[in-house]
Amino acid sequence: MFRTSGHSPYRSLLVDIKPASEPLTFPDALYITPDSLLASIKSGCVRLPVIHLRKRVNQDDQSRRKLTTLVQSAFVIALLILVLCFLSYCFLLYVDYIPRRHKHIIEVYSWSALWNSGIVDSDTAADEIPSVSFPARSDPEHRLTVDNQSLKTARRLPQALIIGVKKGGTRALLEYIRMHPQVRAPGAEMHFFDRHYERGIEWYRNQMPLTDESMVTLEKTPSYFVTDDAPARIYEMNAKMKLIIVVRDPITRAISDYTQARSKGRSTRSFDEMAFYSNGTHRLIDTSWGALRIGLYARHTAKWLEYFPAAQLLFVSGEGLIADPAGEMARVQAFLQLDRLVTGEHFYYDPVKKFPCLIRPDAPVRPRCLGKSKGRPHPHIHPDVIGQLRDFYKPHNREFYSMVEQDFQWL
Ligand code: A3P
Repeated sequence: MFRTSGHSPYRSLLVDIKPASEPLTFPDALYITPDSLLASIKSGCVRLPVIHLRKRVNQDDQSRRKLTTLVQSAFVIALLILVLCFLSYCFLLYVDYIPRRHKHIIEVYSWSALWNSGIVDSDTAADEIPSVSFPARSDPEHRLTVDNQSLKTARRLPQALIIGVKKGGTRALLEYIRMHPQVRAPGAEMHFFDRHYERGIEWYRNQMPLTDESMVTLEKTPSYFVTDDAPARIYEMNAKMKLIIVVRDPITRAISDYTQARSKGRSTRSFDEMAFYSNGTHRLIDTSWGALRIGLYARHTAKWLEYFPAAQLLFVSGEGLIADPAGEMARVQAFLQLDRLVTGEHFYYDPVKKFPCLIRPDAPVRPRCLGKSKGRPHPHIHPDVIGQLRDFYKPHNREFYSMVEQDFQWL
């Protein structure tokens, strides 16, 4: 075999060669250079019955080509897998099956956040979540916006607030109303009008979700109800603000408050020890204890009525939210001038949790109940204590009923 020179079009030539004088008995194959072949033909010493011209395929080339094919196939397969994963993710997002940890950042405010956000279960204050981030999101609900118009989205100050009362059922109400496609609300409590007022209105606005003009922005911080400065501050921001207050039997509310404080290790004394003090001869109700003071609804409501007309205040029954969530939600939606889209279809009574839980009739997702911190078992309180508290609250409750023209059946 002869190798050709580098500039030859052929690396080598395979030819059958025989001296012209000899009969052709069998083909002999030789690799020779084109130049030497020409020279052999010219000199007449080679007869060429057949000339096989082949490009010599170098072994290196072959393995390089194999490698390239392999890499290309791997790339195509990887690409296919990626596309499949993406399509499956989109599908699972659509049916709301993605666990919340994967998307709570982008969908903190959405309808599906209810199912996917742990914030649902906690009353975390905004400042306890340093990285609360509310970037623009791919919002599957935007398809539900009014008339499918593409309305301008922006962060807007709330037009409605759930201002109280603590342990009244405020989380349940917030999550129920967030089912409504035209309602957006941050999951965390912002505490703007009590703790963070000095941060300024723009800070507050930036905590709000993106909404379009057809939507209602809502915020819930139950401590506003008992904050002296809150009515004036809210009035200054928006005199037309709609205020929602979930009220619950002040005694049960106080026990719930106490249960929560104890579960957080904030109270080691018994409920009785906290609720009463002695003046030497009598056991008196200690209204300096916050758990009892919050239940003086008439007193707190009076402060709000100094700034806002009664028509801007809606009192929701905490007991009603448990016994008839759809009925209470009908009142809330009417108050917010929303279509009645959250209905009985969205609730089911969970026999284990013993509270209403939420279902999505339009999507194959599991029902969601509020977390463990909602619906805790209460400690047993002696009936005498309950009786004393009942007597104490009676006049306050009566006053409250007449103030808001509603009877909550706590007497
Ligand atoms: P308890 O845990 O004492 O039973 P808030 O959200 O304002 O802190 O109120 C908590 C209370 O909401 C709970 O108090 C519970 O009674 C009440 N609640 C109302 N609806 C509920 C629901 N669907 N799931 C759990 N708790 C609910």
